[in-house]
Amino acid sequence: MNDKILIAPSILSADFANMGDDIKKLEEANADMIHCDVMDGMFVPNISFGSKMIKDIRKITDLPLDAHLMVIDPERYIKDFAEAGADYITIHIEATKKPIETLKAIKNYGVKSGIVLNPKTDAEKIKETLPYVDMVLIMSVQPGFGGQKFIEDVLPKIKEIKNMINASRKDILLEIDGGITLENVNKVIELGANVIVAGNTVFKAENMRETIDKLRG
Ligand code: DX5
Ligand code: ZN
Repeated sequence: MNDKILIAPSILSADFANMGDDIKKLEEANADMIHCDVMDGMFVPNISFGSKMIKDIRKITDLPLDAHLMVIDPERYIKDFAEAGADYITIHIEATKKPIETLKAIKNYGVKSGIVLNPKTDAEKIKETLPYVDMVLIMSVQPGFGGQKFIEDVLPKIKEIKNMINASRKDILLEIDGGITLENVNKVIELGANVIVAGNTVFKAENMRETIDKLRG
């Protein structure tokens, strides 16, 4: 509960035709990192953008870039995203047959690694990956689209994974992604989340800076 809370706005909700301006706005609003949702149209029904977006954003900001790969067999793309300048690369446990190997590959590029699990995936499934991750990302919506409703059923899993992280004695961030609002953010922070992804809540805000501040709980 005394963790520093990091806010990671998702640029899936940005205006892709004015991405540079939107990144500047996030900097001015004190965002802590930029969450980049990469979708392949196979693992999820939607297609968003690839490593070129990360490479171009890298040129205009020093904020950490958090690449959330919603991609089948993400091991195919680790090099691209590492070379594009991602600070974090997170891969879905449901999307690869080689989670540990892929997480190790991410670390070998000097990039922080993360494992992601979908709302219906049990916490146990990611346990063996903990020695190889810097972050665990819990999905609180079905991945694929911004602006969905938070799935309350994932709440116990936040606590469960926080306990697993504490037991590991490793310094692992716990990120939550999907449907986060000013109304539900305190609940997830109390349960142990310390990186808060928010797309619509940040980009639809009248005052982005104030909203980001309030999202810190
Ligand atoms: C969903 C993405 C999320 C999404 C969050 O597949 O991983 O990062 O953009 O958007 P909101 O906060 O609007 O649910
Ligand atoms: Zn995401």
